[in-house]
Amino acid sequence: MDHEYEVEKVIDKKEENGVVYYLLKWKNFDESNNTWEPAQNLNCSELVQAFNLEKALEQWLIEEDLCILRQQPQNDTICKKSKTKNMLKFEHSHQTFVHNDEPQIPIFNDIDNQGIPLEFTYVDDYVYGEDVPRPEQYQGPIVGCDCEFSKCKAKQCSCLKKENRGRLYYNRTTGAVNLEPGNAIIECNDACSCDLSCPNRVTQRQRNVSLGLRRFAEKGWGVIALQHIPKDSFITYYLGEIITSQEADLRGNKYDEVGKTYLFDIDFYDDDSTATSFFTIDACKYGNISHFFNHSCDPNLVVFPVLNGICDIRLHHIAFFAKRDIEFGEELTFDYVGAVESKHKSDSISMEVDIQIQEENMSKYECKCRSENCRGYFLVV
Ligand SMILES: C[S@@+](CC[C@H](N)C(=O)[O-])C[C@H]1O[C@@H](n2cnc3c(N)ncnc32)[C@H](O)[C@@H]1O
Ligand SMILES: [Zn+2]
Ligand SMILES: [Zn+2]
Ligand SMILES: [Zn+2]
Repeated sequence: MDHEYEVEKVIDKKEENGVVYYLLKWKNFDESNNTWEPAQNLNCSELVQAFNLEKALEQWLIEEDLCILRQQPQNDTICKKSKTKNMLKFEHSHQTFVHNDEPQIPIFNDIDNQGIPLEFTYVDDYVYGEDVPRPEQYQGPIVGCDCEFSKCKAKQCSCLKKENRGRLYYNRTTGAVNLEPGNAIIECNDACSCDLSCPNRVTQRQRNVSLGLRRFAEKGWGVIALQHIPKDSFITYYLGEIITSQEADLRGNKYDEVGKTYLFDIDFYDDDSTATSFFTIDACKYGNISHFFNHSCDPNLVVFPVLNGICDIRLHHIAFFAKRDIEFGEELTFDYVGAVESKHKSDSISMEVDIQIQEENMSKYECKCRSENCRGYFLVV
């Protein structure tokens, strides 16, 4: 009878006569039993990915003359500029900062002695503030598809026929988004018969791109890519505490005084004609990696509103996608001004910004994005 041998770790890689081999450490066997196996025989793509990422990271650290800052957020120890291999074992780093199965977030700082602010709490879902309806309180109609397969098909799925003229929002194989900015993505929801592997549930499957945090001299923390990210890939949601617009006004004033910009209106469906209240995401205290996305006048991220499990359209998600190919080490940024085009308004509102509002009502921040077309500042209400 054949025994199933389990790979514990990928140790090394080589190429001979055009064939790629990986050196494997086998589970329950010591290192002397490690063997080289051709890539095509392997059935452990996640371990191979982790190995390749670690190698790429190692190379990048050498080129950038950086190291991973391994301290817990509460310690303010500065990064020592050594590049020992064990520093690269980022799977152990910052466990307090990483949730669910999303790739870990290594932290790099060779600028100053700042850690991650202690008051920041990492979340992997919205936090519902006062007077904000909870999803479980939703009483409206829930419409879902009754596709026979776990993966919906564009021409047959009632969700896709109704919402997107029988076309998928995403590439079936890669999950790349295929939609003009200014439109919302209506994904399958809790009432649909399909499962999480459905091609119309891309953003529900969590972030799977590897990202890191890097300290920048002029902008504070920012987010960098730790892999090549193909154009149109889903990156992550903008998460935080959902608050009423009244509360957002109050907090906005306070944040202004200390130069904080973390408010993001979720008002894609606000047509100004109803008295219905709309909501704002405040990512200041609670948030995910998107808390650290900086502004750029030439951004590499684009934002789409996404409706999925939550059926109240006023509580839709905000999802970031790659606007173009993003290279290893490149910073991920979005345009704080006009990130989401509203369904009803000619202009957009994001990070509490509405270009139509008089400039005197807005705070002006000096922009340090360094892009060729930098406007020199960005405005925040
Ligand atoms: C949403 S936070 C981004 C994360 C922030 N850098 C940090 O360290 O937590 C927005 C703040 O980052 C800084 N920032 C973002 N983009 C910037 C830019 N293009 N130029 C200068 N400062 C920027 C400003 O202080 C702004 O209030
Ligand atoms: Zn589906
Ligand atoms: Zn369907
Ligand atoms: Zn700029």
